[in-house]
Amino acid sequence: MDKIVIDGGRPLKGRVRISGAKNAALPILISALLTEGWNTYTNVPNLKDIQSTLHLLTNLGARIEIDKDTVRIDAGGLCKHEAPYDLVRKMRASVLVLGPLLARLKKARVSLPGGCAIGARPINLHLKGLARLGASIELKHGYVEASAESLKGNEIYFDIATVTGTENLMMAAVLAEGTTVLRNAAREPEIVAFADVLNQMGAKIEGAGTSIITVQGVSALKPVSVKIIPDRIEAGTFMVAAALTKGDVTLTDCEPGDLEAVMHKLKLTGAAIKVEDKCIRVVGTDQIASVDVKTLPYPGFPTDMQAQFMVLMSVAGGLSIISETIFENRFIHVSELQRMGADITISGDTALVKGIPHLSGAPVMATDLRASASLVLAGLIARNTTEVHRVYHLDRGYEALENKFARLGAAIKRVKV
Ligand code: EPU
Repeated sequence: MDKIVIDGGRPLKGRVRISGAKNAALPILISALLTEGWNTYTNVPNLKDIQSTLHLLTNLGARIEIDKDTVRIDAGGLCKHEAPYDLVRKMRASVLVLGPLLARLKKARVSLPGGCAIGARPINLHLKGLARLGASIELKHGYVEASAESLKGNEIYFDIATVTGTENLMMAAVLAEGTTVLRNAAREPEIVAFADVLNQMGAKIEGAGTSIITVQGVSALKPVSVKIIPDRIEAGTFMVAAALTKGDVTLTDCEPGDLEAVMHKLKLTGAAIKVEDKCIRVVGTDQIASVDVKTLPYPGFPTDMQAQFMVLMSVAGGLSIISETIFENRFIHVSELQRMGADITISGDTALVKGIPHLSGAPVMATDLRASASLVLAGLIARNTTEVHRVYHLDRGYEALENKFARLGAAIKRVKV
């Protein structure tokens, strides 16, 4: 298992290209199941979660060709309807096959993902929604078994706005008879990108980006050729890194419009931010100001940026209150940051972060994707050496993170253990 070793204290300087978005690519690649013929996807990030997705699709009978960041998928030979435990436990987004399998084969057997490090993360709302479209759902031996004679459009209300739940229901509804209305739908940029792709395939979806999405079912979809949107969380992570190291970093190939909340909070900390077309330049300040943050569904501050922002606040000039409202256990990075000297107290869904002058390097353990990123960020400014263990979490969602940081001047390397 690899570890990342960082000698902290170097300001990051230069330009970094932002890769394609993991959370946009996952549902988009899976939507290839809805059609026959070769789909072409470009700007696909090279990540463990993408490999897991392609493995799952191959397992279901799809043909796949990969050339650098281009992935071609033909699901004409779709012959299986099962996502086994071994694949789903590696990547819970595998549950996204439920919608398209039901739509195309009228049956699906998908392992229940179970909880994960950041929370219980049930999929009850996915299942309730599919039942509203006419699917019969049974839970047997740890698996969801879903089947339907035909899917019929209906009104679906999500008790909680769920990103993958909205995507799953969009995929089930595109080939259903009649019209489906998704209320309290998720509004993330990945949902808008996903609706765009489905519409290019011939779907009739309106309202993506608002909380009401209308899907008028069609009889068949056609293959597409699309480019994956930039990863706003990778971009946010580099923006925080620039501010944290008091550096000067320009992000290229990103989508500033998707990062308003992060940019707003970063400006309040004193960082100078300049946006030009698809580039964002972040220049750090010597005096980082403390700022409160509450995670919320888009367009609020993303939960996927909470851990990274907490590192910035751990060396800010005062007190910061960070509230996590999306996942019930997303403070697991705190105990590792405390081992690096951070002064953080947790009370329920709130962390009180008292800024200190510097963190000190330590061996630390990654527990989930964004927690891992926060530990790498902490290592970039900590005195002496930080070793981040269990970096397979990082590899699930960041493309060559250590190489990108090294090119910006960080003393960082991956070591095979
Ligand atoms: N929820 C339910 N029931 C459901 C579905 C969700 O109670 O059936 C709850 C969840 O437990 C959570 C809240 O609703 O408390 C929102 O969860 P959501 O379903 O929106 O999360 P997700 O779709 O499983 C996606 C991203 C996550 C990101 C969240 C929130 C993908 C593949 N994953 O997860 O990304 O944190 O939305 O924005 O799109 C990451 O990239 O590190 C990551 C965890």
